Amino acid sequence: DHTHADTLRTPIVAVLGHVDHGKTSLLDTIRGSAVSEGEAGAITQHIGATDIPLDTISGMAGELIDPSDFDLPGLLFIDTPGHHSFSTLRARGGALADIAVLVVDVNDGFQPQTEEAIDILRRTGTPFVVAANKVDTTPGWNPQDGEPIQKSMDAQSERAKSMLDENLYEIIGQLSDAGFSADLYWRVQDFQKNIGVVPLSALTAEGVPDLLTVLMGLSQRFMKEEMAIDVTGPGEGTVLEVKDERGFGATVDTVVYDGVIRNGDTVVVGGQNEPIVTEIRALLRPRPLAEIRTEKQFEKVGEIGAAAGVKIAAPDLDDAMAGAPVRVVRDRTVDQVVEEVKAELAEIEVETSENGVVVKADTLGSLEAMANALREAEVPILRAEVGDIAPRDIAVAETANQDEHKAILGFNVDLLKNAESDLENADVKLFKNEVIYQLVEDYERYVEEKQR
Ligand code: GTP
Ligand code: MG
Repeated sequence: DHTHADTLRTPIVAVLGHVDHGKTSLLDTIRGSAVSEGEAGAITQHIGATDIPLDTISGMAGELIDPSDFDLPGLLFIDTPGHHSFSTLRARGGALADIAVLVVDVNDGFQPQTEEAIDILRRTGTPFVVAANKVDTTPGWNPQDGEPIQKSMDAQSERAKSMLDENLYEIIGQLSDAGFSADLYWRVQDFQKNIGVVPLSALTAEGVPDLLTVLMGLSQRFMKEEMAIDVTGPGEGTVLEVKDERGFGATVDTVVYDGVIRNGDTVVVGGQNEPIVTEIRALLRPRPLAEIRTEKQFEKVGEIGAAAGVKIAAPDLDDAMAGAPVRVVRDRTVDQVVEEVKAELAEIEVETSENGVVVKADTLGSLEAMANALREAEVPILRAEVGDIAPRDIAVAETANQDEHKAILGFNVDLLKNAESDLENADVKLFKNEVIYQLVEDYERYVEEKQR
């Protein structure tokens, strides 16, 4: 029944896995762009979103997909940073994603963030497939650009094939150790019982047709009912990032995961102090295949339905927080929706103690990731907030009992102009870095030197 095409919502596909295993490269290959190359230290720092329409998917999948078999509009891919913060990609306490692709480097196998991702997938009951990436690095590999993996395998020497097989079975074994029965995807009959492993290369695109085919099949078969819910209800979403946009002021890049958002709607957005109640002035949609993180040409639309990435322009969004909920009010009362947003924010609080350092980060997700990294390093936190470093933060850091705690750790934030002289005059050390683990390491090194 193909008449449903415009009432089914686009499935949300999260791409996760260990740092450098190739998540962004895989998405680059699917969308035909090169976002990965432009990233600081080639590490993804923010969660992004890209809408891939069905015709692109079927174009890439070639003979493996017959587009008339599908009535889903496409897939919305969410790219995540490999370090720690996927756990904050949440919606109403559950997972934002409908399905996931766990990217594993065939040579490296399971690594710490692979394990972390598996834990989250298990906890949230999110169906997933494994992309066994970088098959092209197998010694003696004979690349077959863009071909389905079977065709590519047929072109390999016995030696290359058996080396790859060895790595693939290692991964299948690791999945089994993690409690998941898994096999190469073409041997899987029931994708609800067994995890399919898709060997591929983000670099040469071989095996990518297979991955897209498996993802479309999974969404279509198992999630059609979930995809058909509430497509016209009041929109609900999650803020990916707050950004200043010329001519609009502060805007929020949002993933809408339920219902519909219309221009002119009153919305409630999680803010640094209180939830923000505002009216939408413009809904700006990235072009299909464009990553919302890097898009420059947006199209103004009257409404947008789930699932989609959209930039929302509205007054008073300066204090909005990345990772916070966005809710359309529509036929409810503003107070009711404000309470909902408050309840959701209360779930994401960072544990603080009486002694410790001050932490500032650009998003709720990165703040939570910082808090996790500091807890692992046994560094206590006095105060943790989203936002740039202000005079108040320096005053708070100065009150620390121990010298080593008179410190501010800033992740992806700036020192405000009016705080510069305060910092010079205070006995407070500022650490800034765009990579979480490096920031924590910098601080640990400082403490070690101090104790010497
Ligand atoms: P984070 O965002 O930091 O977690 O990393 P990521 O998983 O997005 O990895 P990314 O796509 O940035 O790739 C990391 C490195 O691996 C880059 O140098 C890529 O060029 C390389 N790479 C990714 N996929 C492949 C592949 O299939 N084959 C080869 N040879 N290299 C790859
Ligand atoms: Mg990346």
